[in-house]
Amino acid sequence: MSESHPHTMRLQRFLARAGVASRRGSEAIMTAGRVTVNGRVATELGTKVDTDLDVVEVDGKRVVWGDTPVYLMLHKPAGFITTMSDPQGRRCVAELVPTERYPGLFPVGRLDYDTTGLLLFTTDGDLAQALLHPSRHVAKRYVALVDGVMTDAELEPLRQGIMLDDGPCKPAPSRIVSARAARRIWSEPAPPHSSVVEIELSEGRKNQVKRMLGRVHHPVLRLHRPAFGPLELGQLKPGTWRCLTEEEIGRLRAAADVREPYTSEEGTR
Ligand code: URA
Repeated sequence: MSESHPHTMRLQRFLARAGVASRRGSEAIMTAGRVTVNGRVATELGTKVDTDLDVVEVDGKRVVWGDTPVYLMLHKPAGFITTMSDPQGRRCVAELVPTERYPGLFPVGRLDYDTTGLLLFTTDGDLAQALLHPSRHVAKRYVALVDGVMTDAELEPLRQGIMLDDGPCKPAPSRIVSARAARRIWSEPAPPHSSVVEIELSEGRKNQVKRMLGRVHHPVLRLHRPAFGPLELGQLKPGTWRCLTEEEIGRLRAAADVREPYTSEEGTR
């Protein structure tokens, strides 16, 4: 396993490229002692592997390197948690995507149990990591039905960068949209004394949209994500998925500033 061998790379990168998990997720799997290289447990994050010669296993299952990565979008319905398995037996998004056909598929980021909309899945850990990295500013667009009649001026703190318990948010372009938008998304009119707001976030903190709107005293009643970076949900029906086109994958790479092949391993840590 020489350093100069062109097929040598860090184990966590190998796992991410092979679609086991994101780069950070792969590190967690390693430090948990679940990965072996040629039969030996590898917890050291600097461990290098030769993609041609070394036998890498996760939980005793061989990780095969070199399959073409897969990218698909799901229209997530409400009532599913964003995880690939749930020990408590709750319904999870894994039920809705073709995990048999594409092993190693995982969601890029998460949507809450009750949030609907575009959830991207891939086996490409590098692109997933780049898409979620706050420095890449990949915008996610949300439409929220909120309690109370909201004025444009009340959105100003969100546009400026509102303070939450875990620190200030980045400025989030936001606007009030017509109640017709609610009907298009949720197939029913907005209830009386409510408003519909569109917000664009380039970061992804837990319950961020709900917390931001709660902070300006307009609790979220329903939340939907029609767009993730350059991708639009379009007419995809709730609970269904489709593979991305080559053109969409290209636009996603451009948005995340990732070239093919991804070469900035050291730059992200
Ligand atoms: N913000 C939230 O509050 N929930 C989501 O599901 C996504 C963004």
